[in-house]
Order: sequence, then structure tokens, then C-alpha cells
Amino acid sequence: MKMPLTLNDMQSLRNVTSGVEKADIALLHGDVVDVYSGRMLHDYSVAIKGDWIAALGQDIDCMIGPGTQVIDVSGKVLVPGLVDGHTHLNCIARPEDILRFCMLGGTTTIVNETMEIVHTAGYKGMIEYMAAFENQPVKVFFTVAIPLNLNHSADRLMPTVAQLKRLLTRDDVAGVGEGYWQMVLAGNKYLPTLAEESLRLGKTVEGHGAGAHNAKLETYLAYGVNSDHESTSVEDVLERLRMGVFVQIRQGTIRKELDALAPMAKMNIDLSHVSIVTDGIDPRDMEKSGYLEASAQTAVDLGFDFIKVIQMVTLNPARHFRLDHYVGGIAPAKHADIIVLPNSKTIKPELVISRGKPIVQRGKLLVQPSPYTFTIKGLTAPKRRVKPGDLAIKAPGTAPLSIRIMDLVTELVSREAIVEMTPENGELKPDISRDLLKICLLTPGHRPFSALVRGIGINQGAIASSYIWETYGVVAVGVNDQDIASAMNRVVELTGGIVFCENGEMVSELPLTVGALMTDQPLEPVLAAMRAIQTRSEELGGKFPDLIKTMSVLCTGAIPFLRIHEDGLIDIKSNSILPIIAEG
Ligand SMILES: [Fe+2]
Repeated sequence: MKMPLTLNDMQSLRNVTSGVEKADIALLHGDVVDVYSGRMLHDYSVAIKGDWIAALGQDIDCMIGPGTQVIDVSGKVLVPGLVDGHTHLNCIARPEDILRFCMLGGTTTIVNETMEIVHTAGYKGMIEYMAAFENQPVKVFFTVAIPLNLNHSADRLMPTVAQLKRLLTRDDVAGVGEGYWQMVLAGNKYLPTLAEESLRLGKTVEGHGAGAHNAKLETYLAYGVNSDHESTSVEDVLERLRMGVFVQIRQGTIRKELDALAPMAKMNIDLSHVSIVTDGIDPRDMEKSGYLEASAQTAVDLGFDFIKVIQMVTLNPARHFRLDHYVGGIAPAKHADIIVLPNSKTIKPELVISRGKPIVQRGKLLVQPSPYTFTIKGLTAPKRRVKPGDLAIKAPGTAPLSIRIMDLVTELVSREAIVEMTPENGELKPDISRDLLKICLLTPGHRPFSALVRGIGINQGAIASSYIWETYGVVAVGVNDQDIASAMNRVVELTGGIVFCENGEMVSELPLTVGALMTDQPLEPVLAAMRAIQTRSEELGGKFPDLIKTMSVLCTGAIPFLRIHEDGLIDIKSNSILPIIAEG
């Protein structure tokens, strides 16, 4: 990606400002958000040459020639192309399909995490994933993944520290990706070295400090961590700002924090060290509501000042990533990334210009993102088929026992709960009347591990998925071992995917053959399959609004408290495996 100004660019811009050469595009008589001073400039015009803004002024007539494309933007509001400072673009759909939504909403610079693909496709997966976003109509930067897998079957895929260190020198790498604070404090072997190198290169160390406060937060920051996107309250934000942390307010599919943080709109605090990020948006949500522009619109609707919101999705994240010398503002010698809005209340672009090229006009794409053909595979292991008998939860006797279960208290958070269950023929069986379903994890080199989970709510069949954070394998939840085994075997057969099985029949399936996380299929059938899975879940009593999302977090160390691991139920806080039978 060519980014900073070259000598040729400098000469060309000089020629335009002096009238020797003419602008390629002139946007005339708009209101322009000056993100640097926080003011609205009335009746200003912009001259664009090549990739760059040549001039912003009230009279650019001398820069307009017969070859200049003149666009009257009077009555409209010009803001810089939006910058998403933290996202995960591997949300099931193909990269080009995700990028279409980003482009339509006017996001022209993206900083993208690489952590999911590293856990299922290793270093090669990361390299291909990054290549898929090269030379696209909008700029995509990356943060280098910190391996954070709880399950050791993924260890063999993990890159070396040296490989990741080398990636940090790439121009399109903005820093080190989010390292979950508990795992960093527990001694993650990658973070210290990568953080040191990133800081030496003038790049960032992104954070994930959910629930970290006071001394724990300070210890985490000792590793050079300089951002966090996990604030869920105004107090969290103020503590992080006080500690010099760049705050990324998350407003996307996994969490929406703006409602809780809306009181900040009325507080007299400096927001220049704050941004709004998506942290990834599911393609179903993108189709419905859009991308970062929708998150920014929510902030405006909640009472945040329009110009401050624009700063939080342009200049502020650009400054954090040291990209502000060419991204994040409408000014001379900055990339010509400009979006034209109908007014100063509505963040829905009528025109999107990215690096001097109009890419969207009146809601239609003028250029298409490039497709990418991945060579990485999905799951190539385990090879052995799961038999229903492999999934038994063995328990002795015929007397009631105290059983430790995973209790999903929200669609994401799980707690330990103890329930009384009586073994039947030496096994603990699901009990639909109490919403106690079986949860199973299959990873290469391990026998499937099974436990019980409460909260999902379905009363028939089973769902299995390889779209799971930081885990190479298949997780399944269901009401009987036959359907669970069939669903898991089908996901392995597909080399990755999400399937719903009822009475031995696959009622919905979505193959994810790229790193077991992404499809190679067009968007429409993919969205249809995702919706079909959710619809069927709800028809069968499913309680959560997005079962695919809930399934995706069952093995992660990112969200408390009890998770399923290849060796048993794991308590994230103490990092210890707990027995299913709580007492004898
Ligand atoms: Fe994230």
C-alpha cells in the first residue's frame, strides 16, 4: 500500500495549488467539518489531485480546468472518510462482501484484528487473510495477533515470536493486537517481546482490559498497552483516560456500549483520547443497519455533539495509530478520503471518495472490492468420526449428585452453577425440562469432552460450529448424543461450518471452508443460512437472539467465567480445570 507523500505527489500538489495543473475533482461550496479545530467551516471547497487533497479553501477557481470533475456540494456536509480503529472483518462472510458494507457507509480506513485466523490457520492463514485486504478501494491496516488459545491442540499452528515480530515492520501493520489482560498477566510468552518491538517502531499495543481496574490495570499497562475497547461504564472510561489509555467505545455486534456511556455526552470531558469502534459487525447486522456510520449515528442520536462524534471516528483513531499525517482530516496533503453527508445530523453518505476516487454515490457502489481466492483450508483434523457413545458423561451410582454446569447467564457470559442430577445407567443425560443440554468440544488429538450447559433453550436437535474464538475444532450443543455426533461429524466433513441437525437430518448448514471461519460463497445464501439457523433455534425454544454468536464464545478466555476446554470445564479467573461432579 502506497501511503505517505512521494516527491512526485508533492510536485503535483504544488502545481495544482499554483494553478499550473488543474484538480481532478472539485467539491464546491460545502460545509466542512474541521476535525483539527472542532469547527464547522461554512462554504468551503476542496480540490483533489490524484490520491490527495490539494486545497481546502473558499476560492479554488484557479485549480479548476476543463478536465476537472466539478461536484456542487452546497447545503451538504463534508467529513473525513471514517476510520474504524478496532474491528474483526472475518465475520463469516467473504472479505469482499464485508468491505462492500464498509465502503457504502463511508469507512475508508480500517484497523483489522488478525487473531481468529491465527488460531485456525496459523501464520499462513494470517498472511493470506492480510493479502485478501490488500489493494482494495479502502485502506485496511492490521494488528498482529497475540496467540491466546486456551486449548493446546491449536499450539502446533501458532507462529513463532520471530515471525510475528517481522510482521510488525510491514507498512500495513499498525501495532500489536488485543491481548486479553488475564492471559498477559499470567505470562503470555508473545506479548512482552512484540510490545517492545511495536513501541520501538512507533506503533501501538492494543488492549483488552475487560474488568481490569486499579493495580491490575496498571500492571497490564506496564506492558506498553495503550488502548482498550472494553469500557462498559463511564467510570471505566474515566479510569482509563486518567491512566493515559486511548479509549475505544465499542458499538458493534458483540457489544453495544453507547447507551451506557451516553452520560459522557453531557459531561465536560475532553474526548480527543476517545474513539468509537465496531469491534466487528455481523453481516446480518451490516445488511440491516450498516457499519461504523451506524455506530456514529447512534452516538449522535444519544446526544453526543456531531463534530465530536466525527472526531471520534476520524482524527482521534488516526492519531492513536500515528496515521494522522495522511488520514483522518480534510486538509491539504492528506489522503482524499471524504464523505458527503446530507446534513449535520445524518451520518449516511451520499458520496464517498476514497484516495481521490469516488467509490459510492447515492447508495450505490461505483467500484467493487477485489475478490480473493484463499488457498488455506478449513479443519483438516480431527479425522476420526465421533460416535454418540464418545459423548457420554460418565457418573457413578444411582443417587443424586451435585453437578457443575456451565450456566449462560447472558448470551455471552457464563457462570458456574451446581445442579442436582441423578445418573442413568452410569451417565448424566440432558434434561430438557430444566434446559440442561449437552455441550461438547472436539479438538484434534483429544477425545471429545462433554459437559452440561443451561440457557440455550432448544428442545430438539443439536447445533455444531467451528466458528469459535481461539479454538481449532468443533463445539456443539444439543439434546441428544446422536444429533450432536451427527452435527459434529458434518462440520468436520465440510472442513468447517455451522450446522443444525434434527433426528439425524441436517436442517440447516453453512460451510465455512476458509480457516473454518469464513465462507467462500456469495453473501445472499450465507445470510440465508445464518438466518435459517437462528429461526430454527427460536422455533425450538432457543432463548438467545443470536445462537451463532453465543456458540462462538463458548471456548474463549476473553469472556468470564466458566468455559468449555478440551480437558474439562475451565474457570477463566483461576485458569483451572474443574471437575463435573462437584462432590461425590
Ligand atoms: Fe476485539
